[in-house]
Amino acid sequence: MNTSLDKNRIPRHVAIIMDGNGRWAKAKGQPRLFGHNAGMEALREIVRHSQTLGVKYLTVYAFSTESGKRPEDEGAGLFKLLVKYFGSEIDELHANHVKVNIIGDWSKLPAESKQAINDALEKTKNNDGLVFSIALNYGGRDEIARAVKNIIESGVNAADITEELMSKNLYTADIPDPELVIRTSGELRLSNFLIWQSAYSEIVITPVLWPDFTKEEYEKCILEYQGRDRRFGGIK
Ligand code: IPE
Ligand code: IPE
Ligand code: MG
Repeated sequence: MNTSLDKNRIPRHVAIIMDGNGRWAKAKGQPRLFGHNAGMEALREIVRHSQTLGVKYLTVYAFSTESGKRPEDEGAGLFKLLVKYFGSEIDELHANHVKVNIIGDWSKLPAESKQAINDALEKTKNNDGLVFSIALNYGGRDEIARAVKNIIESGVNAADITEELMSKNLYTADIPDPELVIRTSGELRLSNFLIWQSAYSEIVITPVLWPDFTKEEYEKCILEYQGRDRRFGGIK
């Protein structure tokens, strides 16, 4: 572990926008799916290292509500990779007490992916280790619109709508807001990821493309986070 890291100030929840798989593959003259495959390897290492560092919640952006605009074979390829990922990782995740969670509307995913997800959720549901959330067909605006729908349908009076009630109706109801949001590949935007939850998150952007994101890079991001002055509107 990086000796400059303060072990007592590891963020409880880290959220990651894994970006740059396509550019990584292109630079190597390979198809985009080659990059997604390599991205899965990076993810494996980051999940493991999150446990080593003592991160309690890890949330990763794998497929947005807008990712559906990509060519069909890329989407299908990504979901196949997901099935493969769960197939090869689930035993290790479970042995390490990781609890798998999915955020987003995964009801319309291919049957094979849904089966793999259901198995993973079922198998790890009682685990008390790292809560590992994967955002699939996830969109922050979609999530907020759904929360509003749920609240109205439950018959709540307008006067009783609070920020807390909104939070409880999001996909992340049981998960604290992320202290740190990391985006790889240098893009300076949130791309509809956790837009409610990241209201006061520290955002760290690294130029590294996701398949090249190692545990050392991860620690550098946490180090940058630890150097930030978090004021939440107050004065220090
Ligand atoms: C990240 O990479 C995608 C996933 C995590 C599925 P992109 O596919 O967006 O790659 P770029 O941004 O085109 O390089
Ligand atoms: C970032 O999203 C990574 C995801 C996992 C979805 P995009 O690569 O789709 O975002 P934009 O298009 O650059 O905003
Ligand atoms: Mg991208």
